[in-house]
Amino acid sequence: MENVNTVRLQETIDFIKNKLVAAPEVGIILGSGLGGLVDECEISLSLAYSEIPNFPVSTVKGHGGQLIFGKINGKEVVMLSGRFHYYEGYSMQEVTFPVRVMKGLGAKLLMVSNAAGGMNREFNVGDLMIIRDHINLFPEHPLRGRNDEHIGPRFPDMTEPYDQYFITKAKQIALRNQIKVHEGVYIGLQGPTFETKAEYKFLHVIGGDTVGMSTVPEVIVAIHAGMKVFGMSVVTDLGIREENNIITHEEVLEAAHKAAPLMAKIFKELLGEI
Ligand code: HPA
Repeated sequence: MENVNTVRLQETIDFIKNKLVAAPEVGIILGSGLGGLVDECEISLSLAYSEIPNFPVSTVKGHGGQLIFGKINGKEVVMLSGRFHYYEGYSMQEVTFPVRVMKGLGAKLLMVSNAAGGMNREFNVGDLMIIRDHINLFPEHPLRGRNDEHIGPRFPDMTEPYDQYFITKAKQIALRNQIKVHEGVYIGLQGPTFETKAEYKFLHVIGGDTVGMSTVPEVIVAIHAGMKVFGMSVVTDLGIREENNIITHEEVLEAAHKAAPLMAKIFKELLGEI
């Protein structure tokens, strides 16, 4: 089986291209509760997922379900407001389809954000973390299947998926704006349960600083296709407390909403420096 249906992909790209005034240079995926960046965008085109041929349709609370085109800080961007999670039942092909579309429309950089649990003892709820690296614990790989060499290599290198240039720039931006940021490793797994205490401990021991249910498949597909990647987590809950650790989706969204303006500031300034 092909890992991407290129005919359907091209159909989607052609449909969108016909409506676009300018090709996007950057693709942005906004995590749960992190839609604030949309307010910074001079929107030129907004498409509901349901209008776009072959696009999956979003189901989760807190997600808008729009593909938004426009300018942020002078850069042409395409924003996915409402991502597709594996736990919703989408296949890995569906989860990563928007990244392939973004790349096909011209995006060379993918910027991703997510709400995540924190395992690092230095982290507090509401903190931001620049993703330096990830650990893939999803049960399925988005590149499984026959590889199309026109898109990327069979065995993509993963030594530095998160581009050092953007990490350095983002840290400078945070410093100059007095925004506290950590840097660390994000672990992606399928959910939809939050982790048990023993699982959080395990995830910390194997090298994770944050954990969430997204991002990794999209990043893998972006790297495969030759895009550069920048990513950030908002710590929405802590998985390291000794006491009972009850987490709700509402709590996660609330913490994400609070931190969203700071993350939006970093993304916006970063776009101005590309
Ligand atoms: N675990 C997994 N996914 C999450 C978490 C978490 O603690 N918080 C937000 N998304």
